[in-house]
Amino acid sequence: MKNRRDFIKMTAGAAALGALGTPQASAAADSKLRKAWVLSDLHCGYTEGGKDGSEWFELACKDMKQDYADIAYAITLGDITHGGNETQLKNYIKTRDASGFLTWYEVAGNHEYHDGKADSYKQLIRSTNPYSVVDGNLVWIFLSDEMPGVQGDLKPESCDWLENELLKHKGKNLIVCSHQGVKNTTLNTHRGDRHIHPADRISAIIAKSNIALWMSGHEHQSPYTAKHIARVENTTYINVASLSHAYKTGSSQSCLLEFVSGAREIIARRRTHDTRTFMPEFEVKIPLSYPLAFE
Ligand SMILES: [Fe+2]
Ligand SMILES: [Fe+2]
Repeated sequence: MKNRRDFIKMTAGAAALGALGTPQASAAADSKLRKAWVLSDLHCGYTEGGKDGSEWFELACKDMKQDYADIAYAITLGDITHGGNETQLKNYIKTRDASGFLTWYEVAGNHEYHDGKADSYKQLIRSTNPYSVVDGNLVWIFLSDEMPGVQGDLKPESCDWLENELLKHKGKNLIVCSHQGVKNTTLNTHRGDRHIHPADRISAIIAKSNIALWMSGHEHQSPYTAKHIARVENTTYINVASLSHAYKTGSSQSCLLEFVSGAREIIARRRTHDTRTFMPEFEVKIPLSYPLAFE
């Protein structure tokens, strides 16, 4: 088994990273294939569909571990908790650390601020500053909500960091992960409280970069539809929410990404954990500018 540091390089954003809160070793790195599991809106501490968010999370981890033990890393796109407090976050951490998946990356959603300034998230998970992870010629960029409020806000210095980071990694395949989606892409992102701000600055940054995929959560008020997926210019946008049944989503769902070395596309598969099946109607092939290469 390789150590994560052998194949992944992490870079802190506008300020130093906080405690990672995750073990440093990774699942075995496969030079031919990567699988990444992307989930969002667990809402630990909130019950709907007969289970607390932490219970939906536990069931989903068991589901994926049983069929996809070779997932290299998992990504949680915010609203990990409902109230942002220490107990709810510790419930998440307990299940995450028992999942058998050793490498996790998170961003904070608006609900992480429900206890004030996301202090529990910062203390137990990581800083809310942006950061990036490089895996071969794949670059992951992680953007947390940086201020309280239903809408997501990036600080000006984080917008500067994002612009520079995208420029720095021009020539690689770029994936951005945030809690709220980008304005006027996936379902309901035309609403001010459903997209990431400052919208104009972010749109300008996107326009002069070459982002292959932007993944988000946050909007989960109804069952999943094709409108949770959008393609604008050369960028594919996927809302992965939600892992819990909140609010009226009616099922526990997430996204499995598959990367095959040499391929010029990513396969995104929609998983329903309640039935332990995929939903082929929502499978997406995401075109890439460069053939995937892993070390
Ligand atoms: Fe949510
Ligand atoms: Fe949210």
